[in-house]
Amino acid sequence: MEPSAPPLADPPATAATQAGAGQGTAGPVSSTETLPPLGCPPNAPVGFGLIHPLASILDRLDPTRLFRQPQPLEVELGSGDGSFLLQHALRHPDRNFIGVERLLGRLRKLDRKGGRAGLTNLLLVRIEAGYFLEYLLPPATAQALHIYFPDPWPKKRHRKHRLVNERFPDIARQALVPGGIVYLRTDNEDYFTQMRAVFGANAAFQETETPVVLTELVTDFERHFQAQGVAIRRAAYQRTS
Ligand SMILES: C[S@@+](CC[C@H](N)C(=O)[O-])C[C@H]1O[C@@H](n2cnc3c(N)ncnc32)[C@H](O)[C@@H]1O
Repeated sequence: MEPSAPPLADPPATAATQAGAGQGTAGPVSSTETLPPLGCPPNAPVGFGLIHPLASILDRLDPTRLFRQPQPLEVELGSGDGSFLLQHALRHPDRNFIGVERLLGRLRKLDRKGGRAGLTNLLLVRIEAGYFLEYLLPPATAQALHIYFPDPWPKKRHRKHRLVNERFPDIARQALVPGGIVYLRTDNEDYFTQMRAVFGANAAFQETETPVVLTELVTDFERHFQAQGVAIRRAAYQRTS
């Protein structure tokens, strides 16, 4: 696999796949298919299932009602099968986490791992990440956004599909609490240049350091790229206004 090709690229999510109904891979929802287990509402028993079935894709979520404890919230967009999020959630039981991913198979893997680990501070949502950030997460709720190895869409004519585009900093600003931070990683030099350009041009953000405790948590895709000798680019931007 070429380092800059979208690894395990998937078709874009449709409105139907955004609804979070259950099937092995992205695709239209069929009424005969089994719904994923219910999410983890307050007081749910351990192992209840971490995949949150969205009751509506028009109403914003209420994070204070989604978790057992109201705690600071962090969100990973494109969490894959959760190599980062699982470790991070285990290290920080005093924070809540939402993983957003469009592929149900990957969410199910993370659901199983999170269930085995007894995590109650992690919730998974199957939907398009940009839509989640703009329309489902209430404004000023996230302390951190983690975006690790988003699909690079290397072909020029496909770049419009990139998650971190010209609009993204404004959407991220809306989702973050003041002082909140966006953490970015990619193997794709051109995408990294674009990430830096769009955040650099937004007066609401200032570049900041990525703490070592975060860089220590290597994701599955990161390990794959490192094994191929591909350089990993990282950046972080703090909402300052
Ligand atoms: C290259 S993988 C990286 C996964 C993980 N962050 C890691 O570093 O191991 C990108 C992931 O983002 C998901 N993804 C890509 N575009 C997405 C979108 N617009 N909305 C939700 N998930 C998306 C893909 O399904 C895939 O699991």
